[in-house]
Amino acid sequence: MSRITVAELLQSDKISQEVHIKGWVRTFRANRFIALNDGSTINNIQCVVDFENTNETLLKRITTGAAVSVTGTLIESQGKGQKVEISVTKIEILGDSNPEEYPIQPKRHSLEFLRENAHLRIRTNTFAAVMRVRSALSFAVHKYFTENGFYNFHAPIITGSDAEGAGEMFKVSVFEPNDAPKDEEGNVDFSQDFFGKETNLTVSGQLEAETYAMALGKVYTFGPTFRAENSNTTRHLAEFWMVEPEVAFMDLDGNMDLGEDFIKKVIQDVLVSCKDDIEFLEQRLLQEEKSKPAIERSEMPLIEKLKFVTENDFKRVSYTEAIDILRNSKPNKKKKFQFPINEWGADLQSEHERFLVEKHFKCPVILFDYPADIKAFYMRLNEDGKTVRAMDILFPGIGEIVGGAQREERLDVLKEKIKALDIDEKELWWYLDTRKFGTAVHSGFGLGFERLVQFVTGMGNIRDVIPFPRTPQNAEF
Ligand code: 4AD
Ligand code: MG
Repeated sequence: MSRITVAELLQSDKISQEVHIKGWVRTFRANRFIALNDGSTINNIQCVVDFENTNETLLKRITTGAAVSVTGTLIESQGKGQKVEISVTKIEILGDSNPEEYPIQPKRHSLEFLRENAHLRIRTNTFAAVMRVRSALSFAVHKYFTENGFYNFHAPIITGSDAEGAGEMFKVSVFEPNDAPKDEEGNVDFSQDFFGKETNLTVSGQLEAETYAMALGKVYTFGPTFRAENSNTTRHLAEFWMVEPEVAFMDLDGNMDLGEDFIKKVIQDVLVSCKDDIEFLEQRLLQEEKSKPAIERSEMPLIEKLKFVTENDFKRVSYTEAIDILRNSKPNKKKKFQFPINEWGADLQSEHERFLVEKHFKCPVILFDYPADIKAFYMRLNEDGKTVRAMDILFPGIGEIVGGAQREERLDVLKEKIKALDIDEKELWWYLDTRKFGTAVHSGFGLGFERLVQFVTGMGNIRDVIPFPRTPQNAEF
C-alpha cells in the first residue's frame, strides 16, 4: 500500500478507507494516542492504538522522536482537537528514539537551547514552520522574477575583486597559514596561490550582475554572500542569502517601485501558500508577547502586520528630510540616541532607522538620495554634486531590509570617483567596460533574504531563520 503524507491526508476525503503513513512521534498519551508528524504540514495526525491488543514491548518503543510506520482506517475523530484520526491496525517502529537521551522533549525549549541543537530543532513545530516558510519564500522570489521577465543569473561565489567595499571579506586560499610563499618584500605571494591572485568569498553579486543586465536587460541573483564583520547582532550573519535584481534602462524611481512591488508580492504569496504555518507562528508570538513587559509588545499580530505591509504604500522620504525629522525628534533632543544626529551627512544607525519606521511613520519607509560620502562608489551622483541615487528600504522590527541604487553609468564620473576613493582602476577594468561599450541608465538592489524571513515569521533573531547559522565564533554543524 502506498504511503500518503499527512498534508495530503488532511486534504483528502478518505474517511473509512485504509491509509498508510510514516512519520515521527511527537507525543504518545495514555498508551493510546500518538500525535504523528511527517514534516509535510504543521498539523499532526492522531493515530489511535488498540493498546489491549498490542504487544507491550512495542508500546514501550513508541516514544517522542521515534520513526514509525502506521497503517489503519481514517475515521472521524471521537475526541476534540482534530477532525479525523487513524484507527491503527498495524504499527511498526522504523527507528527508536531513546527518551532518556533525546533532547527535543514535548515541552517548551528556549531558542538558545535549540540553537545548540540546530540539527534537531527542525523537529519542533516552530522551526519546521519557519523553514517551510523560508522554502516557500525562496520559491516565491524565483516565481516573481520569472513572471516579470527576469533571468536568473548565478554570480560567482569566489571573487577576484574586492572593490565593492560592502564589508570585510573571507579569504580563499590553498596556502597553509604558516607556510605561504613570500615575495621579495616578505609579503604573501598570491601569484603562486590557486588562482594566481588574491581571492575572497563574495559580499554581493552586484558588480557581476550589472554586466549581465547590460545584455539580458533584467537579471537577478539569489545566492549566498559572506561578510567577515564582527557583528554580533540579531540582524547579522557571516553567511547569508541575498536577492539582487539588476535592470537596464531603469532609474531610481523604477527601482523603488520594483523593490516595493517585489516585497509585497512575495509576502502575499506565502500568506496563501503557508497559511497554517503563519497562523501557528502568530500564535507562538502572541504567547511570547505575554511574557514581555508591555512596552516591548508589538502592536499588531503577525498576520495583520503582514497584510498592513502588503496593502499600504511604503513611505518615500529623502535622506535630507529624514535628517530634519531625526534632528527635531524627541529622542534626539532628549539625548536618547546612542549616536546623536547633529548635522547633515551623518550615517544613519539602526536606532535612527527604527525610529523613523516604528515611531514616526509607522510603516515601511524607503529612504533615498543619501550623501555620496557614506555610500558605495558605484552609485549615481545627483546634480547637486553631494548626494547619490541610493535607496534603502526600512522595515518595522528589522531596520534595513533592502539596499540599492541607480548606478553611475557615466564613465568619466565613475572613474573620478574610483580615483578619489583610491581604488585600483585596473582591478575594475571589466566593470568599467560596461560604461565604455553601450552604457545606459541601470539600477538594482539587494534584499537580505533572512531579514525577509524574519519579518514574515516574526522571529526575533536572524540565527533562527537559517538552518545552520554562521556567526562570529560559531560554525558548528
Ligand atoms: O546594503 P548592502 O550591503 O548592499 C549591497 O551589498 C549591494 N551590493 C546590493 C545591490 O545593490 N545589489 O546589503 C543588501 C542587504 C541589506 O539591506 C541587508 O538586508 C542584507 O543585505 N545584509 C545582511 N543580512 C544578514 N547579515 C548581514 N551581515 C547582512 N549584511 C547585509
Ligand atoms: Mg546597506
